[in-house]
Amino acid sequence: MANVPTDLMDQIRRFEEMFTLEIPKCKEITERFESELTKGLSKEGGTIPMNPTWVVGYPTGDEQGTYLAIDMGGTNLRVCEVELGQERGSFDITQSKYLLPEEVKTGSAEQLFDFLADCVKQFLVSNHEDQDLEELSDLHLGFTFSYPCEQHAIDHGILQRWTKGFDIAGVEGQDVVPMFEEALERKGVPIKIAALINDTTGTLIASAYTDPRTRIGCIFGTGCNAAYMEEAQYIPKLEHMNLPPDFPIAINCEWGAFDGEHKVLPRTPYDIIIDKESPRPGQQTFEKMVAGLYLGEIFRLALVDLVKNQPVKFLEGQDISALEKPYEFDSSVLSEIESDPNENLWEAGEYMKKKLKINANEAERKLIRRLAELIGTRAARLAACGVAAICNKKGYKSCHVGADGSLFNKYPGFPERNAQALREILDWPSSVKEDPIQVVTAEDGSGVGAALIAALTLKRIRKGIHQGVSVSRKNSLIPPVGEGNH
Ligand code: BGC
Repeated sequence: MANVPTDLMDQIRRFEEMFTLEIPKCKEITERFESELTKGLSKEGGTIPMNPTWVVGYPTGDEQGTYLAIDMGGTNLRVCEVELGQERGSFDITQSKYLLPEEVKTGSAEQLFDFLADCVKQFLVSNHEDQDLEELSDLHLGFTFSYPCEQHAIDHGILQRWTKGFDIAGVEGQDVVPMFEEALERKGVPIKIAALINDTTGTLIASAYTDPRTRIGCIFGTGCNAAYMEEAQYIPKLEHMNLPPDFPIAINCEWGAFDGEHKVLPRTPYDIIIDKESPRPGQQTFEKMVAGLYLGEIFRLALVDLVKNQPVKFLEGQDISALEKPYEFDSSVLSEIESDPNENLWEAGEYMKKKLKINANEAERKLIRRLAELIGTRAARLAACGVAAICNKKGYKSCHVGADGSLFNKYPGFPERNAQALREILDWPSSVKEDPIQVVTAEDGSGVGAALIAALTLKRIRKGIHQGVSVSRKNSLIPPVGEGNH
């Protein structure tokens, strides 16, 4: 750090101390993570929900037919029609994206589900111009709803809590499937919901379809989470169902909830403020340190703290009102600042003028860039602790982890930092030529994954395997022989 005055250097060191996760700490976090995953599967339960999803096995590759998928993520809404192809891993997809209006994220339940149903209707009308909606009633829908849900069946899900800044009254504690079905009915859309899907489970299944080495599906985006396949014998909380011991069932970990007791994660004062001021204080401790939604906010809080409370000359005399708006910046701000390859960071400086409305000198730019790097690196290393914990728990020595989400796909260096941490946590010797466990770009989980899960559900019902499918639905989902999807 050439030409950085001592007082700024002191602040850089303070941030380094706060945000750096040395390997012994990562190992300690991984160990506790693993035991918390196990606890979540026990009858007593734990902080990590470990929700069985009733996705019971991987695709075989012979899944076929045309399915609808709707993905209600953190930012956008996507409706897709997916045609699964003849060959394993092949598919065709038609899709439309709709911006989820801010007022819908904090409005009423009816407003939300009506909005979803309207988007499905609009999609069907514009993609099936020559057909009446009634003629489309054989299409089955995979509903990707990426919030923690307790599932007693694949077509059922009680919302445990909103995450990612959503706060819609009257949905927590309720089954979201009938709520959406009623909205579809109100809008005259005759589609049946075959499965309720978490984005991580969709990612796991879609990635396994194209790459059979896949064992874990992860999302590192607005939120953060993972899913993997577990055998019934290791899920004591399902003991009452008397499933065969090796019965496979995908677990949506909901690992964002990890360390709600604050036993192991080294939270900074900024993490603590974020938690306190969030709509759900005390929840999603891990997610609030790792996910894209929060990284920009951690960064913003640290900068405001420097200007207002620390003994340092930083942005002196400048108007920092743009920096004072909560959640004004997402993780793309950190990626942009980190991406400047110039020694004097002039590109980052121009970006700061435009986006943060500040005029930072070279030394200040260096501090700001280092701060972004520290926050991004901490997120990537914590994410690796979660992946390592699942691998240790399952005894996976080599596999692929399908990962999706804006942090993984768009944050420069995130995959590399994540891989580096995994190497160190799992102690691979430097002589290994290729990492035995690799976190790789996933296949589209909420489109292809959702379609595959809908297909797998129908296949299962046709075979008369009804575990994990609601009684009312197994009759309504399957059309009389000779009709509908195959
Ligand atoms: C949700 C998960 C989801 C993750 C990634 C979290 O906030 O609780 O269900 O998988 O975000 O989208």
